[in-house]
Amino acid sequence: MKKSSYLLGLTLATVATLGATPALAKGKLNVLCSTDTDWCSLMETRFEAETGVKVSLIRKSSGESYAQLRAERKNPKIDIWWGGTGDPHLQAAAEKLTQVYKPKALPELNDWAQNQAKVSGYRTVGIYAGALGFGYNADLLKAKGLPAPQCWKDLTKPIYKGEVQVANPNSSGTSYTALATFVQIMGEDQAFEFLSNLHKNINQYTKSGSAPIKAAANGETAIGITFIHDIVKQVKKGYPVKAVAPCEGTGYEVGSMSIVKGARHLKEAKMWAEFALRPDIQTLAAEAKAYQVPSNKSATTPDGAPDFSTLKLIDYNFAKYGSAETRQHLLQRWDAEIKSLPR
Ligand code: G6P
Repeated sequence: MKKSSYLLGLTLATVATLGATPALAKGKLNVLCSTDTDWCSLMETRFEAETGVKVSLIRKSSGESYAQLRAERKNPKIDIWWGGTGDPHLQAAAEKLTQVYKPKALPELNDWAQNQAKVSGYRTVGIYAGALGFGYNADLLKAKGLPAPQCWKDLTKPIYKGEVQVANPNSSGTSYTALATFVQIMGEDQAFEFLSNLHKNINQYTKSGSAPIKAAANGETAIGITFIHDIVKQVKKGYPVKAVAPCEGTGYEVGSMSIVKGARHLKEAKMWAEFALRPDIQTLAAEAKAYQVPSNKSATTPDGAPDFSTLKLIDYNFAKYGSAETRQHLLQRWDAEIKSLPR
């Protein structure tokens, strides 16, 4: 008995060792993912199945991801940062936290995605686009006898006190996009006046950008400021949520992907980059209920994705609002003048 259990142990150990060898041989990849978790998981599973590379993936908001890359600059643990708003990817590029790479699919991408690569000196590239807006829970507003807001300025009306949720722009790329959008639409001082009025109506500043619309779907807040495609996701899930493209116009993101400078698994990071730009892989987004506009012109835009041609989009200045100086300035001002205000 003793001998056979010893042999069994040996066999299991051998199997475990043999089982581990091919995975090691096929490589590893550490991914920082800043889209919604459903899409992160889908990408992880598909990439592993296709390549045999073992992926270790963490989901973090865009601002947090950028902070992590800065903190690990001398000893990078992440190989590739996939997804999240483009501004912090540009900021990381300017600080040379990410590395120059020209994916083969670059000529197949929409101009806005190629432009993101050009502006960064090819240290990042656009993978999707999404327009900012807000959504509301129609049932909740009706129950409270409140009208549906249509414009950014409506969100500061006293009738919506405690009814609005948005993320913290330090952690969330969505919320930084909102901050930069308000500054571009209104001018900086007026934008901060608007934000201090909006603050009175905010019930919570969340960490992740899409949390406010999930909360609206669940009836925990009446209104959530977020990307319109994140609202579409809740509508498609059957929640009584409606999306608004604000009357003053709105900003947008060029969701991006960057290979980390000093990546330990550079070959695998490049494999992921090529994989993520393929039209068939971008088309998979719909399976994860991700309704962004894909960057590859041959990918299928998911049914329900907001039609950019019908939106009043601002001419978002990515070079300026994607610079580290502007980010630092706006966030410091937001921390000093808005976050600590009483409500
Ligand atoms: C959601 C959106 C993405 C966006 C991301 C930013 O996942 O679907 O389009 O890039 O939020 O996340 P963050 O938490 O940084 O606002």
